[in-house]
Amino acid sequence: MADRFLIVSDVDGTMLGDDSALESLAAWLAPRRDSIQLVYNSGRSTDSLRRSVAKTLLPKPDALIGNVGTQVESFDTSTPLGDWPVLSGAWDQNVVRQVFQEIEGVALQPAGFQSQHKVSYFAYDASEAQIGAWQAQLEAAGLNVKIVYSSQRDLDILPTGIDKGTATAHLADAWKVPLDRVIVCGDTGNDIAMFEQGFLGIVVGNALPELKSLNSPRIFQASDHFAAGVGEGLRHWFENSESAPLRRA
Ligand code: GLC
Repeated sequence: MADRFLIVSDVDGTMLGDDSALESLAAWLAPRRDSIQLVYNSGRSTDSLRRSVAKTLLPKPDALIGNVGTQVESFDTSTPLGDWPVLSGAWDQNVVRQVFQEIEGVALQPAGFQSQHKVSYFAYDASEAQIGAWQAQLEAAGLNVKIVYSSQRDLDILPTGIDKGTATAHLADAWKVPLDRVIVCGDTGNDIAMFEQGFLGIVVGNALPELKSLNSPRIFQASDHFAAGVGEGLRHWFENSESAPLRRA
């Protein structure tokens, strides 16, 4: 698959949000699907993503990355792709819950949002200092975690080294797609990790400030919102000018 491109996109607020824009994007993608592998990468579980693909105009992807990078599986067969997540530190979801039981101002998200490698809370307007203190408390309890905070609300506790970015890198590696042929798209905090792996990127126009402030020649800041922003970014990388890096696609 070395000659293919890999598009890895967040779903809610990036692909989804404007049905007619999604329809246009799907029409752009359809004739190019032989040379493009498509993957959805979301904070939601892969089961929940499958329901969205069935119910919306989302084009069928080749793979799904769910639960903030902790699940990577084939779309068609639902089987895990490679050995993932690879744990490089101490992880125990029960210890995470015990530590957070003592913490004021955070509420466990509903059971359907929890999984073996992701424990999620609602924590409105948490400061960086607060998040740092929680990280220290988890470390003091013997765990090595990655904390991902999105939308001034969603607090995800994951095993160290695991996030949407490293899961994308794992898939690109498994499929042997080089960095320059991977395009990642997103809008909120849990997407930042995807933009830290050296891939090409698209930030949609409706993204939160923490994504809009990413400034790199490898990251295209779209003006258009939702799927229209993804389409604007794909045209930038594939078509817009003679120097568009992926023009030969
Ligand atoms: C999705 C998940 C939720 C998570 C959020 C941010 O909404 O359902 O559990 O906290 O993404 O990653």
